[in-house]
Amino acid sequence: MNQVFNEAAKIIGSSKKCIALTGAGISAESGIPTFRSKGGLWNSYDPTVYASIDTFMKDPSKYWSIRGDFIRKYNDYSPNQGHLALASLENAGIVKCIITQNIDGLHRKAGSKKVLEIHGSLREIFCISCGKEYIAPDIPPGDVPHCTCGGVLKPNTVLFGEDLPPAVLSEAEEYAASCDVMILAGTSATVYPAAYLPVTAKRNGAKVIEINLEYSFTDSDIFIEEKSGTALPMIEEQLKKIEV
Ligand code: APR
Repeated sequence: MNQVFNEAAKIIGSSKKCIALTGAGISAESGIPTFRSKGGLWNSYDPTVYASIDTFMKDPSKYWSIRGDFIRKYNDYSPNQGHLALASLENAGIVKCIITQNIDGLHRKAGSKKVLEIHGSLREIFCISCGKEYIAPDIPPGDVPHCTCGGVLKPNTVLFGEDLPPAVLSEAEEYAASCDVMILAGTSATVYPAAYLPVTAKRNGAKVIEINLEYSFTDSDIFIEEKSGTALPMIEEQLKKIEV
């Protein structure tokens, strides 16, 4: 297994523009359930009922019944070794940008600066009537929290059926098209348009290093079957040896 970390470290170490694309798997070791792998949220709840904009506008209690707790405990979740290793690789000038599908804010908590949250963040919550902003976890009580104006609150996250924030998405696409290495960590790479990003990277000649517990992106150059909280620090360790 060391060999593959060495190989990955060599590719990352000689990159000019290395980026990362992360999914729910990188936060699994922080105690946050994924969506589609074992114990994932969508194994228990139908996302078209619990996390689509259409349903939210008709009956926001469905969404809030599965997300209310998580939002109120927003400050209780901490980044794990995988987030911290990516932040340290950014600090070392190696990782130039993290594109994340995650809405948990853990890359920023880990100290990463250039983070493109293409599915938004649970951190920001706003009233769908008057637009008033609230910050997690400080939201009014109630199964469906309401604004002082009486409107329903919704986190600034992309529900199924909603467009991704255009400016963030186009910046992510630019990074994917211009990087020479993409670290793909903890994503099933099945939800579009995020899942196009590794395809774009490959099409533009980048090498893709996938870190996952199951083989997901079939066109990766290196597949590391390991938890990201183990693999990313190991790669960082190998990089330090190469630099020495
Ligand atoms: N380390 C690395 N990978 C892991 C770990 C871990 N510790 N634990 C789980 N994984 C992998 C799983 O094998 C799976 O391939 O993480 C992946 C998580 O996949 P999903 O649950 O589908 O999450 P994600 O890819 O982020 O989903 C994309 O779908 O529902 C929408 O908006 C939601 O952003 C989400 C998007």
